Amino acid sequence: MESNQKAVTTEGKLKDIISHAKEYGFVFPSSEIYDGLAAVYDYGQYGVELKNNLKNLWYKTMTQVQGNIVGIDAAIFMHPLTWKASGHVDGFNDPMIDNKDSQKRYRVDHLIEGHASALEEVGNKQEAALLVEKMNSLLAKDDFDGLRNLIYDNKIACPISGTVNWTDIRQFNLMFSTKIGSVAEEADVIYLRPETAQGIFVNFLNVQKTGRMKIPFGIAQIGKAFRNEIVARQFIFRMREFEQMEMQFFVRPGSELDWYKFWKETRIKWHAALGLPTEKLQFHDHDKLAHYANAAVDIEFEFPFGFKEIEGIHSRTDFDLKNHQGLSGKKMQYFDPEINQNYIPFVVETSVGADRLFLAHLCNAYTIETVGEGEEQKQRTYLKFHPAIAPVKAAIFPLTKKDGLPEKAAELVEMLKYDFNIVYEEKDSIGKRYTRQDLIGTPFCIAVDHQTLEDNTVTIRHRDSAQQERLPMHEVHGRIAYETSFKRIFEKL
Ligand code: GAP
Repeated sequence: MESNQKAVTTEGKLKDIISHAKEYGFVFPSSEIYDGLAAVYDYGQYGVELKNNLKNLWYKTMTQVQGNIVGIDAAIFMHPLTWKASGHVDGFNDPMIDNKDSQKRYRVDHLIEGHASALEEVGNKQEAALLVEKMNSLLAKDDFDGLRNLIYDNKIACPISGTVNWTDIRQFNLMFSTKIGSVAEEADVIYLRPETAQGIFVNFLNVQKTGRMKIPFGIAQIGKAFRNEIVARQFIFRMREFEQMEMQFFVRPGSELDWYKFWKETRIKWHAALGLPTEKLQFHDHDKLAHYANAAVDIEFEFPFGFKEIEGIHSRTDFDLKNHQGLSGKKMQYFDPEINQNYIPFVVETSVGADRLFLAHLCNAYTIETVGEGEEQKQRTYLKFHPAIAPVKAAIFPLTKKDGLPEKAAELVEMLKYDFNIVYEEKDSIGKRYTRQDLIGTPFCIAVDHQTLEDNTVTIRHRDSAQQERLPMHEVHGRIAYETSFKRIFEKL
């Protein structure tokens, strides 16, 4: 096929991507038969494969490849004092405002940003930028009266009621709480962790001592986190139950900003190596630093709804370890033999949301291509995932259900299934089978035909180009292993 016959659209509107994700088994609304639960989603049969591939890649990068980082898997429930020490009980709040007519509650920054986006859409870019700038400066000072005035001055109305009848701005804690204990009277309030990082901090000494770790070293963890997000928006971008992939890197005090720079560069390169285009990735320095940070930046990806955070890199100082030491009474110190000193290490954190990374890759992969000309022109939709993260690596198709072709194809299945997630299909025309695999992003479709019976060769059809090539059957395993290998990604780092 000539490349000038193609018109490729990779943008994809979010609503089309959401429908595609549901229709082809990637993401379903949670408990959908009961009309779903706001901001909670389930991953389907292909979604779980894609997400697991992303998680595995992240975990391997951090542990196996980096070398001085080890993993843990801490519990979701933690001692309630953990959240006092971390500052989440007192400081994990978002300013909210309620509309008195619709009774709807909004995060103040989301409400104002929504208005700024609407201004931008009608061409008032400067006005939008000024509004966001004013908002950031007021947020940085926790100036709630100023923020309320900004909402009134700009006549920012509730999207539901259309009125500007707003309450005062109040802070709401985002942590979910529940009770622990077998008898009600013994029950104590306990939180669902709002970040996985604290499981790492409280285990710092356990890991350092049992692993005889020398600073600088890191601890990595993948796990669920929970936040009572008031405004559920943008599909799996902002969820109440989500997964984080966090790594705390423990360093000598004074060296943290060098390590911060190192991790900033390393992490953005990682995203690009996985296939997110560099022009769709950018850094965004925090306007307001979190209570624990002395430097912080977001890596943003350009979603169909604009550039938004997928990962945060934070220089967290010794805030967490120092506070845990204070509240627990246990020393959180490290003896550094090189300088003969005891100190509380400083920490640089990298924190990426598995679900946001998933969404970034789904948006990036969603491709609609116009092929052919004139009467012959038609559209082809496919997901152009990097082969290493594609949910299914290869689909095996006997050309027909007879003449011994299924038996021959079964030999190929046997050769591949222990190392790769593959599918076998013999129903429908080969064209329809190719289309089904395109829609879930399978990079290779392998057809077994009559020639295979004669010379043991098969055709491999490549998803993105739709080109086919003939290959000896015994070379198929090696080819798929090469194309889907994690190593090829790491080589780009
Ligand atoms: N330990 C630091 C921390 O939690 P954060 O910026 O609040 O920092 C880190 O969160 C990452 O977690 C974000 O970059 C995002 O990818 C993901 N994340 C945060 N809140 C989320 C939510 N409600 N839904 C989905 N992902 C979320």
